[in-house]
Amino acid sequence: MKDFSKILSDWYLKSGRELPWRSTKNPYFIWLSEIILQQTRVEQGLPYYERFIEHFPEIQDLANASQDKILQLWQGLGYYSRARNLHATAKQIVAEYDGVFPNSYEIIHKFKGVGDYTSAAIASFAFGLPYSVVDGNVYRFLSRCFGIATPIDSSQGKKEFAKLAEKLLDKRNSGRHNQAMMEMGAIICKPMNPICMDCPFVVNCIAYNLGEIDQLPVKTKKLKVRTRYLNYLIIHNDTSVVITARKKKDIWQGLFEFPLIESEYDLEVAELVSDERFVAITNGKGILKSSSEQIKHLLSHQKLFARFYWIKVKNLSSFKKYKVVRFDDLVHFGMPQLIVKYLKVHRVKPVKTDQ
Ligand code: ADE
Repeated sequence: MKDFSKILSDWYLKSGRELPWRSTKNPYFIWLSEIILQQTRVEQGLPYYERFIEHFPEIQDLANASQDKILQLWQGLGYYSRARNLHATAKQIVAEYDGVFPNSYEIIHKFKGVGDYTSAAIASFAFGLPYSVVDGNVYRFLSRCFGIATPIDSSQGKKEFAKLAEKLLDKRNSGRHNQAMMEMGAIICKPMNPICMDCPFVVNCIAYNLGEIDQLPVKTKKLKVRTRYLNYLIIHNDTSVVITARKKKDIWQGLFEFPLIESEYDLEVAELVSDERFVAITNGKGILKSSSEQIKHLLSHQKLFARFYWIKVKNLSSFKKYKVVRFDDLVHFGMPQLIVKYLKVHRVKPVKTDQ
């Protein structure tokens, strides 16, 4: 298509959103924004971006922070490995590059949590290097505009779209061109109900002209969703409660939670209290005061069903394997949203009882 990049850039300058990471060339800020936006919508990511640059205005500040502090600030964004990778990379840039963000696509590509898309984004936005970005927005826009039905999750599709994006790239203005490509997919060529009447490519768009907008892009694989049952034991006295950090390579690694018994199905109370893990965790102590309704929590690849069991004990000093914290201090620990929401809805402090 003739003048593709000119049409795109004119549209973007007139209609693109003003976003804080678009008015900076600071590679640290741009990297931070791209990691936040990897699996997060702009509206959700924005306050986190602002909070991170306020707490850590320089990459050295992020490198020197504790992992717990970073995870606490990340709380609610999900995919917590992104936060751990941010921390590791900040430390690496301080140690190996004297705190100066490297201006090389190849070096950036080697950082943890940075793939083809994010390296191209940072290289072009921060340094004007001639790399084209292809994210979900760009796949959708290109597949419709050029009528390409090759599955975007096939290796052939990835190659084909990357080649087309590279051909279309305005190499002298790679940053603006790439932002504009993504913006087109984000605000015009949306997954559902795209706003074709406002699209500067409507006369050229093959999918629009063939009436095939909702058939594109094509994907081969369906997401497999895993179902898990989480039984949380809130072991407490009047003031304090037992928590523990998630250490395994699994969802929420590094976050804090209550002692957990995971099961294959939704357990009855009688099954739970006779489970050997329950006996081991509680030392056979405590009184089960109440249990919650089943709470459903969706992650992109997992469906979680949780129940919370309030177990009152007289003395928490025998729970040495765990961290004992005051209810009032729970806010200082990064916890999964599932738990944060539960604690918000139910008064965090348990009712005082007479025993
Ligand atoms: N999603 C990923 N990167 C983005 C950016 N720079 N602007 C808007 N949305 C994005």
